[in-house]
Amino acid sequence: MGELELIAREVAGCTACVLSKTRHKTVPGSGGAHADIMFIGEAPGYHEDQRGEPFVGPAGQFLDELLASIGLKRADVFIANVVKCRPPNNRDPQPDEIAACDQFLQRQIAAIKPKVVVTLGRFSMGKFFPGESISRIHGRARARNGVLYFPLYHPAAALHQPALRRTIEEDFKKLPELIATLDQSPPDEPHQETATQLSLF
Ligand code: URA
Repeated sequence: MGELELIAREVAGCTACVLSKTRHKTVPGSGGAHADIMFIGEAPGYHEDQRGEPFVGPAGQFLDELLASIGLKRADVFIANVVKCRPPNNRDPQPDEIAACDQFLQRQIAAIKPKVVVTLGRFSMGKFFPGESISRIHGRARARNGVLYFPLYHPAAALHQPALRRTIEEDFKKLPELIATLDQSPPDEPHQETATQLSLF
């Protein structure tokens, strides 16, 4: 059994936080096991909890459109969440729930070894950019330990707010350029700032 499958099995049996009491299905994540790009959302919502798959509701449809806009399909990327079980009534995930789920996320990142980690929304951003504000750092990639972290607004937030929607669409279009930059020079090596404002932590 591969590590991702093992993680999914462990998630299915996890009772480390209260979300395990109200979930229907666990949502470990899905996509290419060695994808170059990993998207990390917040938490499963109603549709994800029913299906056991990430981003299958309206926010997921929008994410699919954003992926298609740069010529990508789901199978080309890996999509996971900060917490793997739905918070009741889609409330914010709590710090203890995020902490309890952290080992799964870290193990997924270690197994997939993505070149780019795209954080969706402020809870996911908070994992990698603690204390930052999404309105300040969205769409600006930063390199750390050989991985580029690229914070974006959450598609669910952008879906119904025209200004945010334009922003996430514009930010998304920077991804191909980022990946092309990576192919030329690994992120740990000194390289020029690009139009996407690549910077080092
Ligand atoms: N929002 C998320 O953050 N994750 C999902 O899987 C669905 C909606």
